[in-house]
Amino acid sequence: MAEANAQLGLTAGPVRGLKGRVRAPGDKSISHRALILGALAEGVTTIEGLLEGEDVYRSANAMQAFGAGVERLGGGRWRVEGAGGFSEPADIIDCGNAGTAVRLIMGAASAFDLTATFTGDGSLRRRPMGRVLKPLGLMGATWTSREGPRLPLSLKGGDLSAISYAPPEPSAQVKSAVLLAGLRAQGETRLIEATPTRDHTERMLRGFGACVEIVEAPEGREVRLPGGQRLEGQAVIVPGDPSSAAFPLVAALITPNSEVTVEGVLLNPLRTGLLTSLIEMGADLEITGERDEGGERVGDITARSSALTGVTVPPDRAASMIDEYPILAIAAAFARGPTILRGIGEMRVKESDRIALIAAGLAACGALVEEEPEGLIIAGARGANHGVAGGAKVATLGDHRIAMSFLVLGLAAERAVSVDEAGMIATSFPGFDALMGGLGADLAPA
Ligand code: S3P
Repeated sequence: MAEANAQLGLTAGPVRGLKGRVRAPGDKSISHRALILGALAEGVTTIEGLLEGEDVYRSANAMQAFGAGVERLGGGRWRVEGAGGFSEPADIIDCGNAGTAVRLIMGAASAFDLTATFTGDGSLRRRPMGRVLKPLGLMGATWTSREGPRLPLSLKGGDLSAISYAPPEPSAQVKSAVLLAGLRAQGETRLIEATPTRDHTERMLRGFGACVEIVEAPEGREVRLPGGQRLEGQAVIVPGDPSSAAFPLVAALITPNSEVTVEGVLLNPLRTGLLTSLIEMGADLEITGERDEGGERVGDITARSSALTGVTVPPDRAASMIDEYPILAIAAAFARGPTILRGIGEMRVKESDRIALIAAGLAACGALVEEEPEGLIIAGARGANHGVAGGAKVATLGDHRIAMSFLVLGLAAERAVSVDEAGMIATSFPGFDALMGGLGADLAPA
């Protein structure tokens, strides 16, 4: 049933302007972690503002399967009764499209005396799991799969020993898997990042009562986590997801006569690379009402129609905006002059090969784009009004962020743009079409 719905496409037609105030859905990264840490903890965790998207439901179901009590109280409010650890699940854990869910849960599960089998949808089964299985194996977990380090696979946890590990790729998921395993390992786990990635796991582990030390070492940022630690249930407030807020904000920047405010957006500096890049492009972005909420900085962001200029985004900014390159590429297509995006090889192993799909989609919409093995160069719009032709049907290969990005393009293009699938948008942004429609977007089934 869900598969059949997922095949329905959506079309976005050009609009005169977007106006209004909205609230972004809860942050996906923090939502997964709130459920997982709540399940690992002893006692009750209450969560406010949880992202009620399909990816996060996968984590909620998995936590129940590993022995936690998980209850939806209504409207983003959830209650998790932690068992102080995981017990062996009775059935296969299906993580659907959710890479964060499967990688973090494998890390957490490997510290317990259990065997669990994980699978996911077609996209997740193609994604690399060796990056997590390697350090978990060094700690003492074992696994077996049908073919190589990919789902479906069975993981056997048990007595783990702490390791000192520097992931070869910048990945908050790998870091988090190692830290969640290290929480119960023997000895002190050390995780060294040459490029810092989102730090929600470290922050939230502290919030749940764990001792976590951050050291600026010559090789990079080192997280030190003594083993044998217990967590205590907490009250968690989930801020608005900057990766989702990006869609209405960029839509307002590239559509004439627009002013859109997204309220309560997470402003963690390891997540704000897109805002920095857009401001460098000349975007009229204003942040008001900055405040602390649940241990994170949040604010209300207003975007107004802007004449953008192409920029070169420094590769060392990639980790702080890794999920935002698709929508930045759309902004770049409307900018004057080229935008150069390099050092983004990780984009090829996301929900889809995002470099290839952005290049193909932009070319189909009439933008000049060059694909590199680990980069994209977008020539920028031509013509007096910096228009982008549009008028294409774009392939998404089931990738939610590719779908939302090209729908945003369609709002500001000369002709409507369709995406071949839209149901999967609900993995991260349930209600995207209604929220955009409320701002004045013209979205219709394709
Ligand atoms: C996430 C980390 C990133 C990001 C993903 C969420 C997280 O993945 O792309 O959407 O919550 O830790 P990688 O760790 O693979 O870079």
